[in-house]
Amino acid sequence: MGASRRSSGLFAVKDHERLVADTKASEEGGLKRAVGALDLTALGVGAVIGTGIFVIIGEGIGMAGPSVVLSFILAAVTCVFSALCYAELASSIPVSGSAYTYAYATLGELVAWIIGWDLILEYGVSVAGVAVAWGGNLNAFLDSTFGFALPEAIANPPEEGGKFNLPAVAIVAAVAFLLVRGVRETAKANFIMVFIKLAILAFFIIVAFATAFSTDNLSPFAPSGFDGMVNAAALIFFAYIGFDAVSTGAEEAREPKRDLPIAIIGSLALCTVVYILVSIAAVGSLPADQLKGSEAPLAKVLDEGAGITWAASLLAFGALIAITSVMITILYGQTRILFAMARDGLMPRGIARVSPRTGTPARLTIGLAFFIGALAAFVPLKEITELVNIGTLFAFLLVNIGVVVLRVTHPDMERPFKVPLANLPVPLFPIIGSILIVYLMTRLPGTTWWRFGIWLALGFAIYFFYGRNHSLLQRAKRS
Ligand code: ALA
Repeated sequence: MGASRRSSGLFAVKDHERLVADTKASEEGGLKRAVGALDLTALGVGAVIGTGIFVIIGEGIGMAGPSVVLSFILAAVTCVFSALCYAELASSIPVSGSAYTYAYATLGELVAWIIGWDLILEYGVSVAGVAVAWGGNLNAFLDSTFGFALPEAIANPPEEGGKFNLPAVAIVAAVAFLLVRGVRETAKANFIMVFIKLAILAFFIIVAFATAFSTDNLSPFAPSGFDGMVNAAALIFFAYIGFDAVSTGAEEAREPKRDLPIAIIGSLALCTVVYILVSIAAVGSLPADQLKGSEAPLAKVLDEGAGITWAASLLAFGALIAITSVMITILYGQTRILFAMARDGLMPRGIARVSPRTGTPARLTIGLAFFIGALAAFVPLKEITELVNIGTLFAFLLVNIGVVVLRVTHPDMERPFKVPLANLPVPLFPIIGSILIVYLMTRLPGTTWWRFGIWLALGFAIYFFYGRNHSLLQRAKRS
């Protein structure tokens, strides 16, 4: 199998035909093709609805007041353009690895490595953060339902008055166990959890509108002005992360070319509608001053706004379920991305071994669970949300650019789904998408940019010391 001759060295591009061929070659002993369009949409919704709408919305209301509704809309619009680009790439190059693989086919190996490295922020590090939120909700649930909570010392990271976050570590271990057992079982469990979280949010919306909603609560609408609204959008963006996880399931999809675009766009659309309704219901049912900074804002709305005292238990339960499915789907995505990187030789190939018994990359999943569990034990959620956001926005930016590059380099490639208005002289949607992404990135704090810079520098170092020498594509070129 010859390597691409179009470019060499750091910018070596892996032809998309080769990508698909490599995948086919490894299919024996590879991942099982077991999921359909509905499963994939559930995978997207499973990955998206969680910490953002149940917990981080409180922080957003603190920054933007009722105009947090516009923050949700702005973040959604930013995602729509990227979702269309993901849909085009996922339908054209339906292999494991998501943005990492698309970058390999379009922008070259170095960029692919950096995007894969960057995706560890979106997938791996974010799972540690949401595991921490899971722990917080477990205590809220135990407290509101049974009147007791786990001791501070074993339920919080050091920065928040504890020593070690045991529930966060336990949930990481449980999720990893489920993923090792098999994709079919995981998809089933996820399906049920998606149903429960949507039902609880629907209950929230209906009760809030029926009993507590008043337009009086909506003014002042934007107490911190336009800046407050946009800064909140840069944070709230976290709530949408995950629709792209659908694309990581490409090799386990039965009909990836048709189903991936449906699931990517469908899950983003569904989650956007839910978020807009939930946020209007929340800020319309209680004055923003009472909700700002709350760690359980939705429970507070039903409790204080609608007088439902058992709401705290219900919402904490909803958050637990929602965050569990976020963890399952995002961790699943991370294993598939690392799987692709290891298969290409940019990470040690041994970690990509698929267990013959379960048909899943068991070794990789367990190793990852150790790394994420260690982070979850000691890191607070807020510290990393913005870092995860900047990493994800950067990945989205490269995906938008990738669509444009691929249109030029491979004009005749089969594209079962195309970003709309594809025949205009300029690729309008990817350009608008890129501008919005960069705009939101600029609204994140300077410390986040520093941390991101350090993370990328580390990634470059690993590539030059390891990946470049072990890459299969580079080896094929040398021989
Ligand atoms: N969007 C996911 C969440 O909000 C990451 O938990």
